[in-house]
Parts: sequence; C-alpha cells; structure tokens
Amino acid sequence: MKLIETASYEEMSQKAAGVIYEQVKSKPNTVLGLATGGTPLGTYRELIHLHLQKKESFQKFYTVNLDEYVGLADDHPQSYHTYMDEHLFQHLDIPASHTHLPRGLAEDLDGECKRYDQVIKQLGGIDLQLLGIGQNGHIGFNEPGTSFNSRTHVVELTESTRKANARYFSNKDDVPTHAITMGIQSIMESSEILLIASGKKKAEAILRLVEDEITEDFPASVLKRHPNLTLIADYEAMSLLK
Ligand code: GLP
Repeated sequence: MKLIETASYEEMSQKAAGVIYEQVKSKPNTVLGLATGGTPLGTYRELIHLHLQKKESFQKFYTVNLDEYVGLADDHPQSYHTYMDEHLFQHLDIPASHTHLPRGLAEDLDGECKRYDQVIKQLGGIDLQLLGIGQNGHIGFNEPGTSFNSRTHVVELTESTRKANARYFSNKDDVPTHAITMGIQSIMESSEILLIASGKKKAEAILRLVEDEITEDFPASVLKRHPNLTLIADYEAMSLLK
C-alpha cells in the first residue's frame, strides 16, 4: 500500500483528482470506478477544475459507480444518480451513455445485480477505482461481514451507516434500508485502487485498516491484498497511526 498524507482535505482532493486526471490523459477510454459520500466531493470539484483549465476531454471515458439506494428513482434528490450528475457528470463532456450506476427502482433486483456485473465485464473491468471508507470499514455499501468473494448484490444497511447518511435526508426514517452495491471481488479486480479519507471521524477506520488483520468484519481490510492500492488521507484521518 502506498500511503500519502496531506495537510488538508483540499490537498487530499487535489492529489486524488491529479491521479484520476493523469489516468484519463494516458488512457482516454479509462473505465473509472466512482464513489459517493462527502469525501469525494472535493476530488470531483478539482477534476472539473482540471478539465476546464487543461481542456482534456472526457468524451471517451466510462464510469461505473459503486452503489445506489434501493427504492429511490434515478431523479430522486438523494439518489446517487442525482449526486453524480450534480457533482460531476453535468460538468464534464462525458456522454450519458458512458456512465453507469445500479438502478434502485429495478423490479427484479437480482436481475439488476447480474446486469451490473455484465456491464463491468463488457467494459473490460475497472482501470481505476476511487473509494471512500465508512466508519465501520464499509466500502461501497459492503457492510461488515460481506464475503470477500461477493459480486454486485443487495444489502441491508446497518443502523450506523443509515445514521451516518441521514445528514443527506430530511428525516432519518427516509434513509433507505437497502442498497445495491458492487461486490468486494469486483472492487478487488480493478487494476488500481485509490482510497481517500479525511477528518478525525475516519481516524479509527484508517488505524484498523493499516494496522489490523485482514477480516471480513472490516471490509476495507481486504484492500491490503491489492497490489496497486494508494491511500491518500489528511493528517486528521492519519492521526492515530504510529
Ligand atoms: C457511503 C457510501 C460509500 C462511502 C461512505 C463514506 O455509505 N456508500 O461509498 O465511502 O458512505 O462516506 P463519507 O465520505 O460521506 O464519509
């Protein structure tokens, strides 16, 4: 694992955006795995900034997102479809047909999971996967206890994850109880993984990730088996490391 400590959230975001930008520059038809949550917002802002400044086109690149809430329509204000449109896609010249997310309103959820795995396969796999980390070590919505061999599947969200994500909803009870998430195996098959973390509330998760054993009870720990993992975190997130 390559560890990069930054002085601030802004520097973490700039560095992460730089890695993604270089990847798209060297391989315009890059398949980028994308994450949601608060952490990548700065990375997306910086990426848009680089795009506008340097005029690199994103027309040939493809994206596959990690997850989506079950039961939310694509255009629901809190859906990850909406999040991605607002914070990234509408600001780049990427064709809509190149962006992929699981469909939270699919009637046949198992079929939707299979379709999503097929999408990733047909794109030839993920070149670079951007990841955040949940306080309980979840990646995507792979909660503690998820098999390391998992593919796209439906998960029941833990209370702690629903609580952490309640800030985006007007009421905690509005947070969906289930989500569709890319599986751990699909994440691990990416050629490169970029994990970002910021702030004190992630410090314990980063400590466990770096220093503890690899266990399904802490999903992110599997990332240590990946040959090409970079962790970019600010000093607060790194503060408990020796
Ligand atoms: C969500 C997302 C994850 C994300 C995590 C951390 O539940 N499904 O992909 O990494 O929460 O979010 P944040 O960056 O807001 O702390």
